[in-house]
Amino acid sequence: MSIIKEIKKRRTLAIISHPDAGKTTLTEKFLLFGGAIQVAGAVKSNKIKKTAASDFMEIERQRGISVATSVMTFEHNNTIINLLDTPGHKDFAEDTYRTLTAVDSVIMVIDCVKGVEEQTERLMEVCRMRNTPVTVFINKMDREGRDPIDLLDELEEKLIIKVCPLTWPINKGATFRGVYNIYKKNLDLFKANKTKIEDDIVSISDLNDPEIANYLYGDEEKLREDIDLITGVYDKFNREEYLEGMLAPVFFGSAINNFGVKELLDTVTEIGPAPVGRETDTRKVESTEEKFSGFVFKIHANLDPKHRNRLAFLRICSGKFERNKFFYHVRLDKEFRFANPATFMAQAKSTIDEAYPGDVVGLYDTGNFKIGDTLTEGEKMVFRGIPSFSPEIFKELVNQDPMKSKQLDKGIRQLTDEGVAQLFLQHQGTKKIVGTVGDLQFDVIQYRLLQEYGANAMFRPLSFSKACWLTADDPKILEDFARYKGQNIAFDKDDNMVYFAESEWMLNRTMEDNKKIQFHFTSEFKTEKNQ
Ligand code: G4P
Repeated sequence: MSIIKEIKKRRTLAIISHPDAGKTTLTEKFLLFGGAIQVAGAVKSNKIKKTAASDFMEIERQRGISVATSVMTFEHNNTIINLLDTPGHKDFAEDTYRTLTAVDSVIMVIDCVKGVEEQTERLMEVCRMRNTPVTVFINKMDREGRDPIDLLDELEEKLIIKVCPLTWPINKGATFRGVYNIYKKNLDLFKANKTKIEDDIVSISDLNDPEIANYLYGDEEKLREDIDLITGVYDKFNREEYLEGMLAPVFFGSAINNFGVKELLDTVTEIGPAPVGRETDTRKVESTEEKFSGFVFKIHANLDPKHRNRLAFLRICSGKFERNKFFYHVRLDKEFRFANPATFMAQAKSTIDEAYPGDVVGLYDTGNFKIGDTLTEGEKMVFRGIPSFSPEIFKELVNQDPMKSKQLDKGIRQLTDEGVAQLFLQHQGTKKIVGTVGDLQFDVIQYRLLQEYGANAMFRPLSFSKACWLTADDPKILEDFARYKGQNIAFDKDDNMVYFAESEWMLNRTMEDNKKIQFHFTSEFKTEKNQ
């Protein structure tokens, strides 16, 4: 089969939400529809349970599970869907941001009682950075939530995106009966079922069909009025605008009861983007190109604590990936081949012989990969858009056992390669500063350093609250600045200069006073400067 055909039948997406909106439940229902699992409850979520928000033992336990749910591949309506999992916990936001670089569209789940929450807004900002198409699923309609029209207004206002409802709820709360499909102009009613997919009990294609009264028990009049109103107020769905990230189709439903889920999945399969091209530091790579290319967006370490092996997740951007074929690792300037590349059909991991754009393969790795690495068939280029974000919490890593300094050094380097946190060095590398976006990571790092590397270390808090990368046209300007601001200067692992600020105010002042220096808040500039 030609590459174009393979590309056309793939959708690579992520479901994202503020914790508790229903991401895990919706994921499970998708897998049920895709026939990948038979009963709900089979997929353990990799989310960190509310009760254990600071319990890193729980994280350890979950880490094992989350390999299985990192990528879930299933088929629906002759389309291959690669669903990439994102951690719900806010301290792992950076992981989520990076996973979003590997998808072509997202589904954003919103709780109809709570509306748009803080993390939803932050995730939307990340989608906007890359114009990723977003579909909204307003969940928990079986609860007494907000008025659907108010919710649509809130979406437009807080997410700063035009919306277009493609389904409409019939009542809400205890009398929620399902959704009318505005896109297909029909009504499929299902029996509520929390664990299985039931066949629809009735399908009605005309809202004026008198038979509808037998199922909606008097609510049909209100539904007709609602649909008249909605189709009058909102423009018809425009796919181009959606694909450009300018318009978000909105679906209503109740994931737990299976209401509105099939409408969502069917439509996303139909209108969602097939794998799209991506920018590199030298040119844009189209997904339809013959030659293989891909990048690593996630690394999962120490699957087996006895062997230090890791799984690097590679998103294929163009061409065909083949088992045992040599590919070029651009950063290391070296060829590698992979004897056991893994794909992920729901929970089971299996070896594959070939994979296509949009697919994610897991490569067993003994330390050759870092997040952001590019593989090609020889071309020297690096995919852009897999940035490290500027961390917000900083602590100094202090060795507690001088006999184990080598282990500590290796451990912290490998953990930061995985993207758990970022490492900055001061005083020729003798002072190690670890920066994260969440406090939980420090517990994870300390625990893993001891468990996996036998290195006993502690963290000493530092008073910095912001870090940014520095560049200047004239290297002398940076040198002078570094001399003058010595305590606030460090270097990242690639030897780029970083400035730490104690406060937003200090940062703004320093930026004002040093107009010839560029301050970067994501590491993206590293690929920009090669252009
Ligand atoms: P998350 O991954 O986004 O964090 O959310 P998750 O799916 O775990 O759902 C959070 C809670 O919301 C769960 O309840 C889940 O059962 C519930 N939920 C999901 N969809 C719906 C829905 O359509 N209607 C209603 N009423 N509830 C829904 P929990 O009590 O936290 O966990 P559990 O014991 O039910 O698993």
